[in-house]
Amino acid sequence: MRSDMESILADERELSDIVCDLAERICSDYSGKDLVIIGVLKGSFIFLADLVRRIDLRCTLDFLSASSYGAGTVSTGCVRIKKDIDCSIEGRDVLLVEDILDSGNTLFNVRNYLFDKYRPASISICTLFDKPSRRTADISADYVGMTVDDSFIVGYGLDYDEKYRNLPYVGILRPEIYT
Ligand code: IMP
Ligand code: MG
Repeated sequence: MRSDMESILADERELSDIVCDLAERICSDYSGKDLVIIGVLKGSFIFLADLVRRIDLRCTLDFLSASSYGAGTVSTGCVRIKKDIDCSIEGRDVLLVEDILDSGNTLFNVRNYLFDKYRPASISICTLFDKPSRRTADISADYVGMTVDDSFIVGYGLDYDEKYRNLPYVGILRPEIYT
């Protein structure tokens, strides 16, 4: 699989450092609060697993899976919830954990959906990668691991066509693979 990569964006050591920094900030911001951490499937699964093991707080974990209609258009598109959360978040502080924030449509809609349906006290967003130059929806992350430019990255949970999620590092995929 290494030969499918143009270059390595973040190796295991760099990812671990990023995760530790994010966890430290989250721990201090949510100390003494009733935190629910919600992983957005599937891309966040490895990041979330590493992150929560660094978060020394009495928190609740849950998962959600969504697909956004009309990605790439204005951020009024609906979100289809493929797997909803199981725990109650009413009146609680929620941290949404995502692999990468691109157009922002998915999280924009997921956040609105959760606010409207469940009335949490707050929703913050933690994303491992952020591509701000691609944003069309009015959303930003509260915790960003690394800002990237407009290249397609895979590994450590991130996929192309459901492949490469199992890579222990994050690489920039060679454009000829996906064009
Ligand atoms: P958004 O709704 O446009 O922000 O899309 C976010 C989703 O698009 C992420 O959760 C990923 O599944 C996918 N995505 C966007 N950019 C990349 C990338 O560079 N590599 C892998 N997946 C990506
Ligand atoms: Mg994906």
